[in-house]
Amino acid sequence: MATVTFDKATRVYPGSTKPAVDALDIEIADGEFLVLVGPSGCGKSTSLRMLAGLEDVNGGAIRIGDRDVTHLPPKDRDIAMVFQNYALYPHMTVADNMGFALKIAGVNKAEIRQKVEEAAKILDLTEYLDRKPKALSGGQRQRVAMGRAIVREPQVFLMDEPLSNLDAKLRVSTRTQIASLQRRLGITTVYVTHDQVEALTMGDRVAVLKDGLLQQVDTPRNMYDKPANLFVAGFIGSPAMNLIEVPIADGGVKFGNSVVPVQRDALSAATDKTVTVGVRPEHFDVAGPDSDLGVAVTVNVVEELGSDAFVYGTAQIGGEAKDLVVRVGGREVPEKGSQLHVVPRSGETHVFSTSTGARLSD
Ligand SMILES: Nc1ncnc2c1ncn2[C@@H]1O[C@H](COP(=O)(O)OP(=O)(O)OP(=O)(O)O)[C@@H](O)[C@H]1O
Ligand SMILES: [Mg+2]
Repeated sequence: MATVTFDKATRVYPGSTKPAVDALDIEIADGEFLVLVGPSGCGKSTSLRMLAGLEDVNGGAIRIGDRDVTHLPPKDRDIAMVFQNYALYPHMTVADNMGFALKIAGVNKAEIRQKVEEAAKILDLTEYLDRKPKALSGGQRQRVAMGRAIVREPQVFLMDEPLSNLDAKLRVSTRTQIASLQRRLGITTVYVTHDQVEALTMGDRVAVLKDGLLQQVDTPRNMYDKPANLFVAGFIGSPAMNLIEVPIADGGVKFGNSVVPVQRDALSAATDKTVTVGVRPEHFDVAGPDSDLGVAVTVNVVEELGSDAFVYGTAQIGGEAKDLVVRVGGREVPEKGSQLHVVPRSGETHVFSTSTGARLSD
């Protein structure tokens, strides 16, 4: 087992001037499950491939435990990788697929068999060991790919979107299995996904990347409660946080007819006349059409989830039409076309600088 350190690790692809990964700094603890998340092209796979030794590092360093592995070939890094296209060998049984790396490494047959059986037990694959991959479901194949990594007993697991070939339901159950398996094995894991729900549910910590730059690395709770900037605020959470540019008022911010108190420090740190306030859909106080609270929202669409519902509506804020998402109770669902009045719940707002995007509130 080992820690993993990205120490200002940079990758500039040949022919490009802009780094695909720019001075990435993350320290991953021994046994930690770290998720790299961000939109397509932000540098997730490149970061993982640098750690795997599949991509040159053009600046900074990468360490596994105390070893500087920056320029070591992949085979000397003691890592195992699970890819999106896990490409099992079709002509080999599940057992042979799982034991293949050990066979290549010259491990004797009895020991391979023992390790494969152990891994199969952990992954609930024992009864499939003699089958060929084509006779397995997608989820079972995915577990075989995991098994192939587990039998090598590496110091670090690397996974690049390993669930993206599975259907939505299987993805949810398999992500729980992978997370609990990782916890049981205690092997330091770096996991890449573009899916922020997957990131929040699986990771001990989550690292958000954008354009090759690390935006924030934090626990899922902190990532949700205290996003460091406007990008993270809009990226983490579904439906996304409402981000609304509002004028600064005495003691707070002006939100339609209401002044919403926000932290004094946040406003004194603001350099603009406005700030951008973030409000999660579940953090609005909602009143009926007769209220003069906050702003009036005209309901466009209601998404009913049973326990609650998301109202997608439009409000006039600062002379412009602004789309808002508001969560309401499942039994208090408004009609399409009707009006609600909403005001952000005091203490649940996030304040960001409109010009820099940086978080101003605690
Ligand atoms: N071999 C390559 N040569 C040149 N540029 C590359 C190469 N591989 C990736 N890039 C560029 O580097 C950037 C980061 O790519 P990367 O594959 O790391 O993104 P990603 O976050 O994994 O995206 P996705 O979610 O789509 O898999 C992108 O702009 C991509 O076009
Ligand atoms: Mg990728």
